[in-house]
Amino acid sequence: MSSRLSPALALFPLRLFLGITFVYAGIQKLSDPGFLHPGAPTYIGTQLEGFANGTPGGFILRAFAIPHPGVAGVGVAITEILIGLLVTVGLFTRIAAAAGMGLNFLLFLTASWKTSPYFLGPDLVFAFAWLPFVLAGASGQPALDNVLEHPPEGLVRRTRLGPVTAGEIAETSPASTRRVLLAELAGLALAIAGIATLVKGNYSPSRTLTAGSASAGGGSGGGSAAGAGRRGAASGAGASKVPKGAVKLGPASRLPKGQAATYSDPASGEPDIIIRDSQGRLTAFSAVCTHAGCTVGFEGGVIVCPCHGGQYSASTGEVIAGPPPAPLAPKKVVEAGGQIYAVPS
Ligand code: FES
Repeated sequence: MSSRLSPALALFPLRLFLGITFVYAGIQKLSDPGFLHPGAPTYIGTQLEGFANGTPGGFILRAFAIPHPGVAGVGVAITEILIGLLVTVGLFTRIAAAAGMGLNFLLFLTASWKTSPYFLGPDLVFAFAWLPFVLAGASGQPALDNVLEHPPEGLVRRTRLGPVTAGEIAETSPASTRRVLLAELAGLALAIAGIATLVKGNYSPSRTLTAGSASAGGGSGGGSAAGAGRRGAASGAGASKVPKGAVKLGPASRLPKGQAATYSDPASGEPDIIIRDSQGRLTAFSAVCTHAGCTVGFEGGVIVCPCHGGQYSASTGEVIAGPPPAPLAPKKVVEAGGQIYAVPS
């Protein structure tokens, strides 16, 4: 039985997979509450910065996408949905596949570039998966392209959008029928994009703590640390625990239980993330993903990376899901006198 299957037909499941995956990828972006929200772990601007950082395709993102992250993000999502619809139904298959291949190749040169070994990054695999459809389209497969090239006897083709009324039925060329279907699929892509955007939930903004210049402890503390020590006996006792050289990040009240914040590491300037768990304990880690260097965030009780879905334990920094090859580096923070301090390491 399998020996009778033509090579073209054997590629049909791959075409459906690519098409449906692209539609899903577009919907997933637009339905993410944080996708267009600056400061969210999955904010498109944060993702683009991470993708552009030290990658060969970064200049393209810096020129066209990073200046307008929202437009770029929504544009890519709608394009993904349209490519996915076209490939799924097999219309303009070669052109849509070429666009998909181009998009995945750009992502290979940016988002997946630092993935090692290279085959763990999905974008290069996707780029090559598109290749048969760029070269041969949907030839030999169920596809609108083939129906329009060789329409069955008696097929009525519409010449424009809207219902066909009596007397308006006309035979047209496959090219004009393709254009009508393309317009309809573009409309469908916009409708899907609109619904995906509408169903997204609310985003709860994350917090940012700013490392101040005032050091604490060792008798060389700045005004803020000393002030914290004067606020009462308990504060004074707390202030004595502040290690020498610690840098004040901000009031402890700004980081309630179950919340996280990011700050600049006082030693390296790189982003770190601090988390207060449900018991009130503080943990802190480097916020630089060990996979490809994107800045991680905190969502649903775990540390998440917006770029390829890596996840880390919020209590240990260990990898719990996705491609990161190593845990996040731990950072030291202390809470004293109602303030939170970062201890350079
Ligand atoms: S950069 Fe790839 S999972 Fe974080």
